[in-house]
Amino acid sequence: MTDEHITSQETVGPGEEAMELSLRPQYLSQYIGQTRVKKDMEIYIKAAKQRDEALDHVLLYGPPGLGKTTMAFVIANELGVKLKSTSGPAIERAGDLVALLSDLDPGDVLFIDEIHRLAKPVEEVLYSAMEDYYVDIVVGEGQTTHAVHLPLPPFTLIGATTLAGQLSAPLRDRFGIVEHMQYYEVKDLEDIVLRSSAVFHTKISPEAAHELARRSRGTPRVANRLLKRVRDFAEVKGESEISLATTAQALHQLQVDSAGLDQTDRKLLLTMIMSYGGGPVGIRTLASNIGEDRETIESLYEPYLLQKGFIVMTPRGRVVTGKAYRQLNLPLPGEE
Ligand SMILES: Nc1ncnc2c1ncn2[C@@H]1O[C@H](COP(=O)(O)OP(=O)(O)O)[C@@H](O)[C@H]1O
Ligand SMILES: [Mg+2]
Repeated sequence: MTDEHITSQETVGPGEEAMELSLRPQYLSQYIGQTRVKKDMEIYIKAAKQRDEALDHVLLYGPPGLGKTTMAFVIANELGVKLKSTSGPAIERAGDLVALLSDLDPGDVLFIDEIHRLAKPVEEVLYSAMEDYYVDIVVGEGQTTHAVHLPLPPFTLIGATTLAGQLSAPLRDRFGIVEHMQYYEVKDLEDIVLRSSAVFHTKISPEAAHELARRSRGTPRVANRLLKRVRDFAEVKGESEISLATTAQALHQLQVDSAGLDQTDRKLLLTMIMSYGGGPVGIRTLASNIGEDRETIESLYEPYLLQKGFIVMTPRGRVVTGKAYRQLNLPLPGEE
């Protein structure tokens, strides 16, 4: 196995990696929002340290960009242990996983991102590793084939997934700690925007920070991305501090609407309205119509639209609400 297999799957452009790292909080005290998750983790980490045991396995689930990877690194820092990072699709064979596991020191964290995409034979090796810290591996060829019982150091698996529903029951059951990451409050996103601006050595007015936070889909990754673009606009205009006017102008140009919906959000709602009379629409139909894959719609777009009440889920599929018609400036059905 090469080193490529054990790097995280985060998509950051060249040069942005260092910035991305500095944007990431290192400890629980710096981690903004997710109060319930932080409170839980604080207790479990303290208890594990007092007993001098490995922390129980942790499953973090929720939409992309809410801080799952960040939280995994924070947990390892708080425990004072090493973290090895990989992702479900990167572990091709059971042997790759065994290699990762046997390389851990007692108490270390193995972080598996997109854990719902683990190959079945790999997942099966995890069961005994998680439950009793051993793996049974088959070595040799032909006549000399035999099983070897390989004990592992006590370790903590942290799994992250955007689609908890796709996790098999046996895997899910082996996580002692399961935490659901929520969309962030505007207030928390404001704090994140202010923290990130400080990292960028950029000034931003409180009103501008509020506007950015409000239109960031409840998601720190989106807030940071929009902040970078808004900063470009402000710099080109020669502003010493990002103003509300420039923020509004930049967001308009980026096609982020007043509710923070982006082009794909709107395309999704419009397709449901124009082609399906507002629904109900099945996920497969919708995916092929707007040219996005199903997983992206289910993990990224739909949860936010549901949470904000632009769509509702019915037994026959998703349905657009009156709120969505108003946001898109369309007459409600029957009003034309
Ligand atoms: N609680 C937080 N406080 C500050 N920044 C955060 C927080 N959570 C996430 N971020 C930032 O948002 C971005 C995305 O977070 P990440 O952990 O990669 O999300 P996920 O793994 O859930 O997709 C990172 O750049 C990180 O710095
Ligand atoms: Mg991640």
